[in-house]
Amino acid sequence: MSIALSQHTTTPADWQPAAQQTLRLAGLPESWRADVGIVLGSGLGAAAEHIAEGDCCELRMGEIPGLAAPHVAGHRGRWLFARCGQHRVIVQQGRIHSYEGHSTAAITAHIRLMAALGIRTLILTNAAGGIRREFRPGEFMAIIDHLRAPHAGFPAWSETVAADCVRMQSGPQRGPWESGLIRTLLSVPTSLHIHQGVYAMMPGPAYETPAEVRMLQTLGADAVGMSTIPEALTAADCGVQVLGLSCITNIACGLSSSPLSHAEVTATALTVESQLGTLLRDFLHRL
Ligand code: HPA
Repeated sequence: MSIALSQHTTTPADWQPAAQQTLRLAGLPESWRADVGIVLGSGLGAAAEHIAEGDCCELRMGEIPGLAAPHVAGHRGRWLFARCGQHRVIVQQGRIHSYEGHSTAAITAHIRLMAALGIRTLILTNAAGGIRREFRPGEFMAIIDHLRAPHAGFPAWSETVAADCVRMQSGPQRGPWESGLIRTLLSVPTSLHIHQGVYAMMPGPAYETPAEVRMLQTLGADAVGMSTIPEALTAADCGVQVLGLSCITNIACGLSSSPLSHAEVTATALTVESQLGTLLRDFLHRL
């Protein structure tokens, strides 16, 4: 049975049929609810192996009602329904991006579905280029604030219904990033180096030019990527608290002499994904 999900499907009630069908496909009882959602970005998918404790079930994203499957290398495109400490967790390995031609509704659909399945906390991870001089590949940055680059290329939120736009405009102005979650994360013992800073989202798919990186530096960005902000804003709209964590996979374009490639991004992510998994598991144990 397919579920009719329109581009205007944004309220939790709209997503209930899709949530119920997802549980049926996963073989989980109708009453199953998660309380934490996790999105693992470019090259970070294997972190899930450290987060899931005990048995878990999985679905390919393409099978899940309302979701599209990612096609970019390093994005596995899978949901795991797992337990970690006291929590029931949905872990998404990979994400889709607006530069793949998807609408804003499509790139945030997984957040609305996770919210309909009960999550109250969302952890968004991504790969990002380091702009702040002291950042080194393999280090992390907890997102304390964000900026969207002030030029064309972002999909409009225009497909959302007017009521959603009004609600999002009158929501809290301090941004979706929850300082309490950052404090808890920083209290977890880890060998990873975790900075705090401002994440800038660029439209991609090409990496930035050196001039764009200088612009972002001037605007106050510490790291740059091509995702995450629409998901965080959508989560906040659903009343879900958000932690954002960027894996600094490379020095941003123009700040180092070597050319940047997607292979470098995924190779760096691979070196830290298991430590990230352990960090997130220990974080969930403290949550
Ligand atoms: N820029 C944009 N997106 C990225 C980068 C970058 O330098 N590294 C990983 N994702």
